[in-house]
Amino acid sequence: MTGTTGSPLGAPAERREGRQKVTGAARYAAEYTLPGRAQAWPVPAAVAHGRVRAVDTSAALALPGVLAVLTPFDAPRLADPDDGTLAVLQDPGVPHRGWCVALVVADTLETARAAARAVRVTYDTAPHDTGPVDGHPGGYDPEEANGQPGRVEHGDPDAAFASAEVRVDVTYRVPPLHNHPMEPHASTAHWDGDRLTVYTSSQGGTAVRSVLAQLFRLPEERITVVAEHVGGGFGSKGTPRPDVVLAALAARHTGRPVTLAYPRRYLPTAVGHRAPTVQRLRLGARPDGRLTAVLHEVTTQTSRVREFVEHAGVVSRVMYATPNLRSTHHVVPLDVPSPSWMRAPGEAPGMYALESALDELAGALGLDPVELRVRNEPEREPESGRPFSSRHVVECLREGARRFGWAGRDPRPGVRREGPLLIGTGVAAATYPVQIAPSTATAEARPDGTFVVRINAADIGTGARTVLAQIAADALGVPLDRVRTEVGHTDLPAAPLAGGSMGTASWGWAVHEACARLAAHPEEGPVVRADTTGTADADSPYARHAFGAHFAEVAVDTVTGEIRVRRLLGIFAAGRILNARTARSQFTGAMIMGLGMALTEHSTLDRAFGDFPEADLASYHVPVHADVPAVEADWIDEHDPHLNPMGSKGIGEIGIVGTAAALGNAVHHATGIRFRELPLTPDRIL
Ligand code: MOS
Repeated sequence: MTGTTGSPLGAPAERREGRQKVTGAARYAAEYTLPGRAQAWPVPAAVAHGRVRAVDTSAALALPGVLAVLTPFDAPRLADPDDGTLAVLQDPGVPHRGWCVALVVADTLETARAAARAVRVTYDTAPHDTGPVDGHPGGYDPEEANGQPGRVEHGDPDAAFASAEVRVDVTYRVPPLHNHPMEPHASTAHWDGDRLTVYTSSQGGTAVRSVLAQLFRLPEERITVVAEHVGGGFGSKGTPRPDVVLAALAARHTGRPVTLAYPRRYLPTAVGHRAPTVQRLRLGARPDGRLTAVLHEVTTQTSRVREFVEHAGVVSRVMYATPNLRSTHHVVPLDVPSPSWMRAPGEAPGMYALESALDELAGALGLDPVELRVRNEPEREPESGRPFSSRHVVECLREGARRFGWAGRDPRPGVRREGPLLIGTGVAAATYPVQIAPSTATAEARPDGTFVVRINAADIGTGARTVLAQIAADALGVPLDRVRTEVGHTDLPAAPLAGGSMGTASWGWAVHEACARLAAHPEEGPVVRADTTGTADADSPYARHAFGAHFAEVAVDTVTGEIRVRRLLGIFAAGRILNARTARSQFTGAMIMGLGMALTEHSTLDRAFGDFPEADLASYHVPVHADVPAVEADWIDEHDPHLNPMGSKGIGEIGIVGTAAALGNAVHHATGIRFRELPLTPDRIL
């Protein structure tokens, strides 16, 4: 199978593991039924702040089949982790409700669950502070927001805004959001003397091994991490989560292989979530629409266990030309579960606010929202002054507008009626940075004329095996079916995680290099190893980002308050698209996640109890088929020589960026009412 150029790159190749998955043959972390395998079940803290005074395990241990109950007082000791969420059962302190305070290990899952209910935990409670963050005195302005500067400012934004002829001053709110991958977090751990093997559901097994080595004070060579199939992660499996540590602790303590598969209801407090944000946007412009001031101020929260800052303000450093810019973050540590990465952390909520505010500015100016964006295209990246390696946001907007039928749109809000329905359309731009990390890979020439590529990449449902085979076949100059890929095992060459939309770009670079060398110098074979350093964004003379544009049409029912999406179109400029089929799936999947963010997904931090009542898929509503009638994604051909040998940007996250704004803008166009808090559920609309 070949793409339009005759190369395997770009071809719509089917996922190689697809059949295994749909027939149930693919094995996931909880499905390694090792001899004597026991099951674990966690006991979550029932208070928001305090200390465990005692754990009465007698009733639990009396149940037939219970092997052990680990508590903070007797669990094996670990070295201090860098990530405080992994210091499980090390200390009786309770930093938030849902924190693991005991772990039951039993012969069967049913026994473990029943025994966990029989564990009696008593607490010394302390007063808890669960916010809200608005006007909270306890916050601070972090130096760094998830690896980026916490604050960027140039010009005199306050004065420029005060003197701007047209002004918008609006505050947008995004609630807590949860990753909820289809496969909950799960690990099976097994000790053989001082060798540890874990089967775990992770976006990056290389990092899991390093963290376990540090925690258990073992050389990395004694640890094997297998993550062959992963049922989604959306960021929540980007770093090791407590399940893998608890499974390893329990296996060491009991001398049996142990599986811990987190019950879905426990995920929201245990594995990270998208922290809520309050974003104030002040935009100043001239009457012709040219921006004179952009002020994007983000307030968010984190836990007391680990600092995580949802870096929503960074999008304003990239998107639009302005002589006066402020982009800041303020974070309030609370007695709440730890937030973490969730698909396009920062960019997803940030572009919701920025692109909604821009739509408000278009209204204030009486200017078409596509045209307003075009007028504010920057020559160079506003934050750094670097030239863009490529930037085709205008082309995405124009192409999307053409395909969507934007021309001739009546800008007046609230005037298109179909019986009880109000109809509207909206647009928003999208951006996501290009990130690349060092990777290694090997390519082997086999006597039968086939090739094997080995790399510890993670296939989290994206089709990584398939696209890496395409990259290899292209570099080797052989048909795709002559290449086999092995991923998901720490015996394979080390590789970075499937996260930050950098997996394929990083792994692919090493795979390309190994294969290209093997093709050019077969005498170096049969196995050629490549070790790429990649290029971190900060080292590049170019600002490198993917861009896109979303167009949405909605119908708002004025009787029920229900919003139905009629059409969603995303056009992206993300470098070379390496597999048309899996790329489309990534784009539309992320757009649907953005649709959920706009219309249905949210949880509530219960201030009295300190966690989230919406802890299952019956109450946390992700979109279903009936919610997504026509979601279409396409891309423009983009040739960017400043990226990697394949010319690709990442595509895992950009699809969710801007989607919620396009939908919110369409709802405003339909109704004439501006809702500034997500999600747009019927109770808010009516
Ligand atoms: Mo993505 S949230 O970096 O997996």
